Order: sequence, then C-alpha cells, then structure tokens
Amino acid sequence: MDAGTQAGTWLAPAKINLALHVTGRRADGYHLLESLAVFTRFGDRVEIEPAETDRLSISGKYAPAVPADDSNLVVKAREALRREAGSHATPPVAINLEKNLPVASGVGGGSSDAAAVLRGLVQTWRLDIDDAELARIGLSLGADVPMCLAARPLIARGVGDEISAVEGFPALALVLVNPGIAVCTPEVFKALASRDNEALPPLPGKLDFHTIRNWLEATRNDLEPAARAIQPAIGEALKALRKADAGFARMSGSGATCFGLFETGNVAKRAALDIRRRHPDWFVAATRSMEADAHGQD
Ligand code: C5P
Repeated sequence: MDAGTQAGTWLAPAKINLALHVTGRRADGYHLLESLAVFTRFGDRVEIEPAETDRLSISGKYAPAVPADDSNLVVKAREALRREAGSHATPPVAINLEKNLPVASGVGGGSSDAAAVLRGLVQTWRLDIDDAELARIGLSLGADVPMCLAARPLIARGVGDEISAVEGFPALALVLVNPGIAVCTPEVFKALASRDNEALPPLPGKLDFHTIRNWLEATRNDLEPAARAIQPAIGEALKALRKADAGFARMSGSGATCFGLFETGNVAKRAALDIRRRHPDWFVAATRSMEADAHGQD
C-alpha cells in the first residue's frame, strides 16, 4: 500500500516566552503557568524523506549535544504518531535534524523538533489526524509540545497546554543570547520561592512595539530569579542585551537563553553583531517572531 512518499523540510522554530507567570502547582508536581509566547524564524530544521529503514541523523552546530538514539524526542514523536496511526501504513523514514538551537536552553528546542516531526509525518504519511488529536499526542511527549504545534503568538495556560491564539500580534525584532550554559528545567522549578503568583494582565487593545514593551514591563518571567541563582551567567547575557540597547530584555522559559526586543530588524542585527564581537563563545541570533503559523513546510 502506498501511504505517501512526500519528502520535505519543516521549521522547528524557537519558542520565546515573552512573559511567564507561575500561578500554581498541580497535585502531580507540574506547575500551572500563564505565558505569552511567540515563535521565531530562526530554529532547527527537520527534513523527512522515505527510506528503507527508519533513520535519524543530526547535523548543525548543536548536533553533538543531542543523542541520535531512541531517547531523542524526534524518535519518540515518530513512534507516538505511528502508534496513533493504527492500521494506516507508516513506512520507514529518514529524518535529519539540523540542530541550530542550543540544547536545554529555554527556547523549547526539543519540543519544537517533536512538533515539527508530528506535523511533517502527518503530511508524509497522509494521516487523517486533526489538530486537537495532534496536540494530545504532543502533550504526551512534553508540556511545551502543544504550543510548539501551534507555533504562533499565543497565551498558554494550564501546564502550558491550554492555548489561546493572540490575533493581530505583530512580528517582533528579537536578539537571542545564550551564554553557553545548559539549564536543568526541573531544578529551576524546584528552586522557585513562590508558586502562587498573579495571572498575566490583559493584553493592550492596540498591539505594537511600544504597547507590547509597556505591557512586558508590567509582567515577569517567574523562573528568572531561580534560574539566575543557579546560573549567574544569565545575568551577564541580560546585561549584554541591555548594553546593546535592547528596548527590553528578559530570560525565556527556564533559561538560559535571553531575548532582547528591538524596534527594527536592522537595529537588532547591529546589536547581535556587537554582542557576538564581545562574546565570541556565546550563541547570538538576530531573528523575527512570526505573526501567524510558523511551521509551514519550506
Ligand atoms: O514536560 P517537560 O518534560 O518538557 O517538562 C520538563 C520538566 O519541567 C518536568 O519534569 C517538570 O519538572 C517541569 N515542569 C513543570 N511544570 C510545567 C512544565 C514543566 O514543573 N508546566
């Protein structure tokens, strides 16, 4: 049976938590969050093509930092979807993951890779699976996978899995900076001083650089103080962004990647060059956030 032989490449964008409030904790230990997240044009790339046997290869700058075995979320995503497909044929595929995003860095790299594989394989295998079902499969792989499947400006609640799209959110010029350290997410959650913080304030009616920056000033990333206590280099990344005139700078997710918000793409690019010159060992990327679905096949 020909179940489809479509090859293609899918973007696995970086997820940036512009704001992240920790509002409670569930009985199973997972934290309740409210987060405004956007996704960037810069990310990993997932290439899928038909093959004789299932294969995973990994290329790109951060390839050495991720395992190419069954513990990789990409393989777990492939197998979770295969189980869901039931009797529908799911022929072997060769997947290449181009790992451009630093690992364990607060930008959802692994989750976004898993989301791109789910999206890619639904097309490759021509599966009849709707978005809600895909989000359920995604959640079984990680709390951030459903939002990475949505890959558009959104507010996430629950453990990150209850998603409301934000309409009319403009593309933002961003610089991402990681001082070359991996952060262990559970360790950061464990170190939180407070878990019952207030919800996000309502978004402004008019959404532009200035109103968003003002709104951000009234919000937090509740994980930032705990992550900075564990990894003080996060403070250095934030300092470098502010020194490069970021209109706003904050840590994303559980860190250590920080983002700076800039008024234009050119200013962001100049800032990135400046930071890279001062810190040649750091990960520094100037990029833009996506206004709508960031996943699209290349
Ligand atoms: O779901 P995922 O495996 O990506 O989460 C990694 C870890 O982060 C979890 O094991 C948990 O310790 C912590 N976490 C949490 N609350 C969330 C998301 C993650 O406590 N909403």
